Amino acid sequence: MEVLILEDETAVAIQGAMLVVELIEKKSNAVLGLATGRTPIQLYSNLINYYKQGRISFEHIQTFNLDEYYGLSENHPSNFRQFMQRHLFDHIDIETTNTHLPNSNSNNPRLVGPAYEALIKASGGIDLQILGIGRNGHIGFNEPSSSLASRTRIKTLTNSTLQDNQLGSGKEELPDMAITMGIGTIMDARRVLLLAVGKNKATPVRNAVEGPISSMSPASALQAHQYVTVILDEDAASDLKLRDYYRWVHLKSEDIKAKYGNFYEIDLLER
Ligand code: GLP
Repeated sequence: MEVLILEDETAVAIQGAMLVVELIEKKSNAVLGLATGRTPIQLYSNLINYYKQGRISFEHIQTFNLDEYYGLSENHPSNFRQFMQRHLFDHIDIETTNTHLPNSNSNNPRLVGPAYEALIKASGGIDLQILGIGRNGHIGFNEPSSSLASRTRIKTLTNSTLQDNQLGSGKEELPDMAITMGIGTIMDARRVLLLAVGKNKATPVRNAVEGPISSMSPASALQAHQYVTVILDEDAASDLKLRDYYRWVHLKSEDIKAKYGNFYEIDLLER
């Protein structure tokens, strides 16, 4: 894992957006995996700015969101489609037909997962998956005890997740089930970008980066991915044992990249 520790939330969002911009500049038809939650909002507004400045276009980009509540109507203000419209899609030149979220209203939720997986596959696979992390270590809605090999499926949410998400959504009750990419689905992305900010993410981040790989800490599965970049502010990094080492590695790798370029990016484009 590449762990970048930056001074604050703004720096995290700038660095995260730069990785997306660099990808789009090299691959104009890239496939992006997107996340909801508070964490990526600033990253999305940076992308909107880069689009408005004419640096990037989303005309040929496809997106797949990690998850969606089960049973909320398409235009319900709390569903993730509405979130994505508000924070990104309404402000860029993306084709709505190129933006995908799991179908939250299917009569048979068990069919939604395989259909979503097939759509991701047909797109050529996700080039860059953006992730936040839940207080309990979840990624997407893969709650603790999720199979590390899981694919897109319906999932029952934990109380802590329901409480956290309720805070951001005002008074109306949220569903206690969701359809989420599985951990196995996320692991198939060519590159993964995990963002975390704030003190309340310090423990899940430590478990994800330095803990044992365990279904009790779903984000820890990323330790087995070949190309993960974790971008943290000082608070989210505050429990990491090796944080000074990560800073040192970051400096060294900047030198190496400046001299020789980024090996993995070359690899990414050739796939
Ligand atoms: C939600 C989402 C996750 C997100 C997490 C953290 O439950 N399903 O994708 O990463 O919560 O949210 P936040 O960024 O608001 O802390």
